[in-house]
Amino acid sequence: MFDRVLITSGPTREPLDPVRFLGNRSSGLTGWHLARVFSQKFAGEVVVVSGPVCRYPEGVTLIKVETAREMHAAVFRYFANAGVVIMAAAVSDFRPETASAHKLKKADCESVLKLVPNPDILYQAGKQRTPEQILVGFAAETRDAVANGKLKFRQKNLDLLVVNEITKDNPAFEVESNQVFLITADEVVKLPRLKKSELAEKIADEVVRINLRKNRSRDTDE
Ligand code: CTP
Repeated sequence: MFDRVLITSGPTREPLDPVRFLGNRSSGLTGWHLARVFSQKFAGEVVVVSGPVCRYPEGVTLIKVETAREMHAAVFRYFANAGVVIMAAAVSDFRPETASAHKLKKADCESVLKLVPNPDILYQAGKQRTPEQILVGFAAETRDAVANGKLKFRQKNLDLLVVNEITKDNPAFEVESNQVFLITADEVVKLPRLKKSELAEKIADEVVRINLRKNRSRDTDE
């Protein structure tokens, strides 16, 4: 059905010095399940660009990266020929301006921690995509999840946005299950709390539906 599916997964690490980094709580579990579901059910080739995680998917083209800039470069090596692109990675929006060659001393830390923005990989993908490609993004919101999600959906030119509403009851990171909203062009669906394996299946089903819709509207245009 799809010749190539490209998935980003896991956190990024932005080095401060040889032993410290700026990171986040992503375990890469959703990305891992997405890789499994797409390689079992649909795709010719599944490419996974993954930040550092405990468990990497097998039977896929795996590109291991650390930083957002490495992830950005890897994604755009595979982007043009991917029918489906799913950005499940928790990319650090910022990085330390400089990574010290030597371990920082206590006294240095306050004065050296200046942050600069990382490239927004999903935003750039939304700019470069063709109408035939299916582009899926994730969002983590701690308030106004649906309103912020709808805005992000449009700004990033997506077909599907999976919104995690982060609360005490739904931490989303480092846990086995998750409650999300699926935002598409025509609807917002609140899913029940699901295991991440089940969530990956739902996302794959939604991608198939979006693909059918695109094919149908192409056929009627011709
Ligand atoms: N993402 C990305 N590159 C970045 C940051 C995020 O590709 N530098 C992608 C993630 O893979 C995910 C989505 O964007 O699909 C997550 O976005 P999120 O962090 O929720 O929102 P931002 O766009 O960073 O906006 P904000 O932090 O202002 O909510």
